[in-house]
Amino acid sequence: MVIEMAEEKKDTIAVLLEEKRLFHPPEDIVENSNVKKWMNEHGIETYEELLEKAKDIEWFWGEVSKDVVNWYEPPKKILEWKPPYAEWFVGAKYNIVHDALDKHIGTPRENKVAYYFEGEPGDTRKLTYKDLYVRVNKLANALKDLGVKKGDRVGIYLPMIPELPIAMLACAKIGAIHSVVFSGFSALALRERINDCGAKVVITCDSFYRRGKKVPLKKQTDEALKEAPSVEHCIVYRRTGDEVPWNKERDLWWDDLIKDKPEECETEKMDANDPLFILYTSGTTGKPKGVVHRHGGYAVGVATTLKWVFDIKDDDIWWCAADIGWITGHSYIVYGPLILGATSVIYEGAPDYPKPDRWWEIIDKYKVTILYTSPTSIRLFMKYGEEWVKKHDLSSLRLLGSVGEPINPEAWIWYYKNIGKERCPIMDTWWQTETGQFMIAPLPITPLKPGSATKPFPGIQAEVFDAEGKPIKNAGGNLVILKPWPAMLKGFYGDPERYKQTYWSRYPNVYLAGDVARKDDDGYFWLQGRADDVLNVSGHRIGNSEVESALVSHPKVAEAAVIGKPHELKGECIVAYVVLKEGVEPSKQLKEELREHVAIQMGKIARPDEVWFVKDLPKTRSGKIMRRVIRAKALGQDVGDTSTLANPEAVEEIARAT
Ligand code: WT7
Repeated sequence: MVIEMAEEKKDTIAVLLEEKRLFHPPEDIVENSNVKKWMNEHGIETYEELLEKAKDIEWFWGEVSKDVVNWYEPPKKILEWKPPYAEWFVGAKYNIVHDALDKHIGTPRENKVAYYFEGEPGDTRKLTYKDLYVRVNKLANALKDLGVKKGDRVGIYLPMIPELPIAMLACAKIGAIHSVVFSGFSALALRERINDCGAKVVITCDSFYRRGKKVPLKKQTDEALKEAPSVEHCIVYRRTGDEVPWNKERDLWWDDLIKDKPEECETEKMDANDPLFILYTSGTTGKPKGVVHRHGGYAVGVATTLKWVFDIKDDDIWWCAADIGWITGHSYIVYGPLILGATSVIYEGAPDYPKPDRWWEIIDKYKVTILYTSPTSIRLFMKYGEEWVKKHDLSSLRLLGSVGEPINPEAWIWYYKNIGKERCPIMDTWWQTETGQFMIAPLPITPLKPGSATKPFPGIQAEVFDAEGKPIKNAGGNLVILKPWPAMLKGFYGDPERYKQTYWSRYPNVYLAGDVARKDDDGYFWLQGRADDVLNVSGHRIGNSEVESALVSHPKVAEAAVIGKPHELKGECIVAYVVLKEGVEPSKQLKEELREHVAIQMGKIARPDEVWFVKDLPKTRSGKIMRRVIRAKALGQDVGDTSTLANPEAVEEIARAT
């Protein structure tokens, strides 16, 4: 891949910023790609022609589904679209585990490694498809014996160890709905999520390793379960061998439970549109939303996008370095790769532990061919410098990926040069928990523009709308999706009104993504961040109001407003303005106490970087806190018209406090 350099040899970054500058993936990658093969089989010659043909979404998704999934009974209809609800592969009988595991058994693939596991302390494990299959079946049988039935919810609170995918697949196998809660979330965050979905069983472990310390998950689970009336059992996997508190009536050791269970378990034949999992994500209110995904369309969406965008082949070693507790891990560590029969790496710990070259060591050790990570991680490694990278042989890499936030050109270039050694195209993938699958992302045949997620995946129709709902070019607007897609969410668990309100009320029958984007003359999309009151901290979504609720739950706090501030490493960091209750003295110590309070309420990722005390917060006459005004003031920008505020003098307070 060559950068077409201007004659006067401009600064590379400046060159990259010019949108006309295209990066062409190397010819051999293009020619040998999965997508090219498919195009040849379908008489399609160019990328543009592919996008054009795929506008017939029923034809396209129906056609690609044949390559990745095997129905028990075929669909009667590809799509039924009754806005805002879509049903894909209507009438098909299916279970995603049939494709993720069952179909590989009895084929040479059963002996292929599904997961290489690398623990933080350096312990390793290797699980073949057959190993995984047997473990999943045993646990599935155990769950059944505990009375877990089709449609029941199971909470999973596990770190990055193979038991996490095993637990998910065991639930899916018997038709239960899993709800994974990220192991970095706190006990109270876990409790809220368990109670929202009414989980019958919770699966966790004693503790796990993070940055050389142990995180006591069982202890945190016990705290959560103090007020979780739906939970009948808690299954505990032994990761570290730590002593843990024990409730004889409720708790069960994973190992004891599966010991005598049969190695076969029948896979429940579900309807393709039956729910597979719930995954909570942050929205604009204080309460997280339980996004529901389904067996059939989700399988087609994640497997096809992974096969095409990251070009997964039989001999690839795929490393999606996200946590399975987020959608990235659900779709592209668990379901997508397993459906494709790929080999993946799972790493338990911190990226820079014990030294900043841990990742590069892992890539070298397992000969990883494709690495998928976030701009935040890339910026962290940039900070440590190239020396750490140079210690290891990264020549096995052929493709790189980015997700979670817009990738800044500096990080793009660094990633491209130092990790990809100017050989590997960078696939910048835009998507969301709600979309389940990549939506705007390049294929190996797509000319790249650094900083742009390029064009919608074939079969996806995205646009940028102005306030009136007209498509616009070369200006920021609302990113929308015009047609349903296979891995589209079914809605929110138990809250249909909020689903309609959040995505479908802004423009009729069009999905509002919640991002600001710009489409350039070549039809490339440039993502510019969230349009709503949702923060993006290190690629993680955190609702401003969730943090505010956490702060206000502290006995000394009267009111709080939370804004995001640009941050060199994290993309955005959390800044809180707090009004204390009458008579409470502000102090440095109290600031610390409040930061800690949020960490306990929500988890460490939500701990504010800065807490400032103010006497008042700018509000509208109806009493709504004006975050927009606070943010502008805090960042030294133009605050605009403040005449509509009930207390314009509070704006100056912000500047004084900061
Ligand atoms: C939000 C979704 C999807 C997996 C990770 C996050 C932002 C995601 C990109 C990208 C610019 C991106 C958006 C989106 N985002 N990928 N490639 N470029 N922004 O999932 O927690 O559901 O967050 O992440 O703002 O709306 P999520």
